[in-house]
Amino acid sequence: MKETIAKYFKEAEAFSTDNPEQLEQFRIKFLSKKGLIPALFGEFKNVAPAERKEIGQMINNLKQAVQEKIITLKSQVEQKADQPAAGRDLTLPAAEAIGTRHPLSLVRNEIIDIFSRIGFSVSEGPEIEDDFHNFSALNFPVEHPARDMQDTFFIEKGPDILLRTHTSSVQVRVMQKTQPPIRTLSPGRVFRNEAISARAHCIFHQVEGLYVDTQVSFADLKQTLYFFAREMFGQHTKTRFRPSYFPFTEPSAEMDISCNICGGKGCNICKYTGWVEILGCGMVDPNVLEACDIDSEKYTGFAFGMGIERIAMLKYRVNDLRLYFENDIRFLRQFQASY
Ligand code: PHE
Repeated sequence: MKETIAKYFKEAEAFSTDNPEQLEQFRIKFLSKKGLIPALFGEFKNVAPAERKEIGQMINNLKQAVQEKIITLKSQVEQKADQPAAGRDLTLPAAEAIGTRHPLSLVRNEIIDIFSRIGFSVSEGPEIEDDFHNFSALNFPVEHPARDMQDTFFIEKGPDILLRTHTSSVQVRVMQKTQPPIRTLSPGRVFRNEAISARAHCIFHQVEGLYVDTQVSFADLKQTLYFFAREMFGQHTKTRFRPSYFPFTEPSAEMDISCNICGGKGCNICKYTGWVEILGCGMVDPNVLEACDIDSEKYTGFAFGMGIERIAMLKYRVNDLRLYFENDIRFLRQFQASY
């Protein structure tokens, strides 16, 4: 019996694994009810009294050795499970740079944040549009030259399917679905057939806004956009409105802000005027409300639309639009995500 115990002892001492199943087999072999150690204790009653002390000690030693072995191997098995399969050491300090948000996303999020503080929600719509939502409902008569202002990419002709030229199309969809009060922002990608240069691109991004309710006035429009300009470019920012033309608004205007680069003194960004244009706006034309089944006798509204690229150019002093699309990591890394 002594020899058997000694043999088991050697076997237990020599055993090693980092595989949890093998370790469990080992435990079962020695310690389970029908295992070797309980069997030894079973035989113990036949041991001659003179040898009991020694053999009892040996079995206990064996049991202890097996238990210790299991504890040691178990911690090895667990350590291995913590390591990813690729063999990377996750406790090493991170060597790879953390990504930053794209400047256009930062500016879009900031615009949404500013307007959401005064009750605007966000709506989205398709980039592939029909003529009605992009043009007809917005008071562009068929064959009207105002359609040419938009340099449209057509996908199909008659009935026309096109890439939306502005996100006003989303606002048409909102007005068709909801009765006023409506306070909505539509951010999104828009498409115009323009040659790519530092100042123009065939894909760009807009945020347009729409507010329709009883008694909405031009004063509301001015105050809302003044609030926006100061939140976006600083509390010292001034605004001015110049008369303009859009088919879907009457009266229409373009809003300038005091040049945030030179503070209005005059520089090459504002072409020495002290002012830079940031958006188009106006009172929603009653024809647009009627096209969307909103009673234009009862409701009025204002709308505005701005290019995110342009706001980002002014805010971050980016002088070439193409940088936004080239994904040059040296450019993108400069933007810290606060939004
Ligand atoms: N939809 C116009 C554009 O893309 C912008 C605009 C929106 C102007 C709302 C006035 C009112 O050019």
